[in-house]
Amino acid sequence: MALKAVRGFSDILPSETERWKRIEDQARDVFGRFGFAELRIPLLEKTEVFARSIGEETDIVEKEMYTFPDRGGDSLTLRPEGTASIVRAYIEHKLYVAETVTKVFFIGPMFRYERPQKGRYRQFHQIDVELFGTSNPMSDAEVISVLMHYFAVLNIKNCELHVNSLGCGDCRRPYKEELLRFLRAHASGFCANCQRRMDRNPLRVFDCKVEDCQRMLRDAPLLQTYLCSACTEHFGHVREYLRILGVTSIVNPHMVRGLDYYSRTTFEVLAPGLGAQNAVAAGGRYDQLVESMGGPSVPGIGFAIGMERVLLLLQDPSSPPRSSLFIAALGPSARDKAFTLYCRLNERGIATTMDYEDRSLKAQMRRANKLNSRYVVIVGDDELRKGAAVFRDMKEQSQEELPLATLFEELNRRLAGDCVSA
Ligand code: HAM
Repeated sequence: MALKAVRGFSDILPSETERWKRIEDQARDVFGRFGFAELRIPLLEKTEVFARSIGEETDIVEKEMYTFPDRGGDSLTLRPEGTASIVRAYIEHKLYVAETVTKVFFIGPMFRYERPQKGRYRQFHQIDVELFGTSNPMSDAEVISVLMHYFAVLNIKNCELHVNSLGCGDCRRPYKEELLRFLRAHASGFCANCQRRMDRNPLRVFDCKVEDCQRMLRDAPLLQTYLCSACTEHFGHVREYLRILGVTSIVNPHMVRGLDYYSRTTFEVLAPGLGAQNAVAAGGRYDQLVESMGGPSVPGIGFAIGMERVLLLLQDPSSPPRSSLFIAALGPSARDKAFTLYCRLNERGIATTMDYEDRSLKAQMRRANKLNSRYVVIVGDDELRKGAAVFRDMKEQSQEELPLATLFEELNRRLAGDCVSA
């Protein structure tokens, strides 16, 4: 039986890579303009990098990580998200020394053992953007607005930006007590997992997908009413800066992100067109994370964009393969001549294609059409005898003869700049 890819893991085929490159290039351009520098992190980390930061009681750590012992007995994990790895690298390489504010972004695959469905995969890709070194609400507004700008550049409309504040330790302490009182009073109505989680980390009960639990939680106390004055003021400033920047946001007090490291501002970009998996990007502030992972007390904020979900939202179809020039060769001598020409033109950046096998002119012209080639050069025994090749402009529907002796230079002169390699 033929081998297949692992469930939830996909190949990205040549016909799709143009669209992937487009969203990656736009990310490098947009985030680069705002001073975010690209960082590359390893696929594997020690398991504790994620367990300690994301939180032991979260869905990701409890059920979704690809964790295994290596041959030396260390527990390693394929990264389920980027933030924890980036913070590990930020601390390990003391990136905080060179600059007070550090802005980085990362593009790459993540791994979560989730039930695959449209928009949800076991290997998926994120564009992760992080800003370290300030808790000024301006930086919250900056990262959110650069995210929305990225979507605007990709012409992705109909997205809703939901924002919330999860407060700091000071406001969360009394809130957690109140939430726990509520959860205990209704404990019998919650599933076994929620009952287990409520005592250890009551906020994580909100992540439960069971409908009955979600219904009960509609009456749970809201964190927003417990925010301390500093957190209320911070959130107010974030919203005001967003308003000044013209970024529309919806306050969603029910939004509790499924990772433990967040404090204060959290946000999600929802695209209703995506169905059940409608979060196309999400993030928030994590002012204690760097310190809790052994670094200095440096605040941070960031987000990750789900690239597969962005691609589902892009309207343009996958692009056909491109070739600017097709060389149709007829007969072995012409093919040899064409082969050198084909290699030399591609070296010059003129996207050229030819057939390796001897096929009829009709078959070769069909292939040129399929490749959308603007120009075709035809060389056969007749042309070799005459010392001239036929040069066709498919768009203008014109044709002329070009001397074989100077064909390479002539094509170079005519097509350089006009033809860019795919
Ligand atoms: P997250 O909400 O777990 O946050 O994931 C961010 C985005 O990644 C989601 O909104 C979604 O678009 C995409 N995503 C997540 N899981 C899957 C999946 N199984 N299949 C396809 N796409 C998926 C984080 O990962 C945080 N690290 C974000 C962050 C950065 N917070 C601060 N900085």
